[in-house]
Amino acid sequence: MKTKILNDTTEEIEEAAEIIAGGGLVAFPTETVYGLGADALNSEAVGRVYAAKGRPSDNPMIVHISSYDDMKRLTPKITKDMEKLMKVFWPGAMTMIVERNPVIPDVTTGGLDTVGIRMPDHPVALELIAKAGCPIAAPSANLSGKPSPTAAQHVIDDLVGRVDAIICSDDCKFGIESTVIDMTGLIPMILRPGIITKEDLETALGKKVLLDPTLNKRPDKFNNEDFKPKAPGMKYKHYAPKAQMIVFEGRRDDVEAAIDRERIEREALGQQVCVIIFDNGEQKAAAHQFFAKLREADREGADVILAAALREEGIGFSVMNRMLKSAGYNIRKV
Ligand code: TXA
Ligand code: MG
Repeated sequence: MKTKILNDTTEEIEEAAEIIAGGGLVAFPTETVYGLGADALNSEAVGRVYAAKGRPSDNPMIVHISSYDDMKRLTPKITKDMEKLMKVFWPGAMTMIVERNPVIPDVTTGGLDTVGIRMPDHPVALELIAKAGCPIAAPSANLSGKPSPTAAQHVIDDLVGRVDAIICSDDCKFGIESTVIDMTGLIPMILRPGIITKEDLETALGKKVLLDPTLNKRPDKFNNEDFKPKAPGMKYKHYAPKAQMIVFEGRRDDVEAAIDRERIEREALGQQVCVIIFDNGEQKAAAHQFFAKLREADREGADVILAAALREEGIGFSVMNRMLKSAGYNIRKV
């Protein structure tokens, strides 16, 4: 398949919107990561998204909207809590899991009776959705299992030849995917942490929010039948670089010293080593750079990535969620 490389001009967004409306696939920028979009109400088009990414078909898509009216079409009931979150966080990096209307085909939701909906905070994404005239189903625009794409080049590397078009724009502002919050239970529950934190959500709702208890759990605690994350996508091997990756946990000084020793030893053996150390005080910068660093390590042919764990608070918790998965929970305590 020939992939059109488009710019983020109004004319080219219009061209992309026509492709979506015609059942085609277009990768586009959002403020979190790039998404791979298709008409969310067209089951054949959505089926092609799974095929292009090599994504398991039980892993549901997030449906992206550009107006509050779209929301009414997709879900039967907008509760007071949903309204509060929409007001505070949309457009923005928050996906709500809600009951779905029959207009949404089964393929889009992986057969679930709920649907994830998000209004992205990016002018190109909003214009694309509005011009396509349909909600857009869009997982992250990477090959399944690879780090999420935070720059147009990442999308080109993964998806040229597999999709109809790619809209190239700036690097994504946040760099990790949206916070996913399940609004279908008695108490809202975070299924995937992001830039919008538990504290942010609790402040907006004026009440407690739960965290899916499997989040950031280490293998010894979940290596059994009970480990069933509620977001189907959270159970797969994820965000994995080609290089082996080790996460060093402990006091920061000890961690930095241990990483240095490991680096020197491995370099002496002729290995290419990539070191990732983010400042605990710069969580947003860590989120912004994390996936890009993994891809850079692969491009440079790294044999191993040595990464320092972040404190699991606020956005640090969300970055650690990705870091642990990328490393396949390969943790070295120091
Ligand atoms: O920031 C984002 O959310 C990006 C951009 C493109 O918007 N999209 C994204 O999509 O990260 P994806 O498909 O890579 O991740 C969606 C996550 C998966 O873990 C999926 O299992 C979960 O959301 N999810 C989607 N619908 C769900 C549902 N109805 N119930 C539970 N989890 C759901
Ligand atoms: Mg993804």
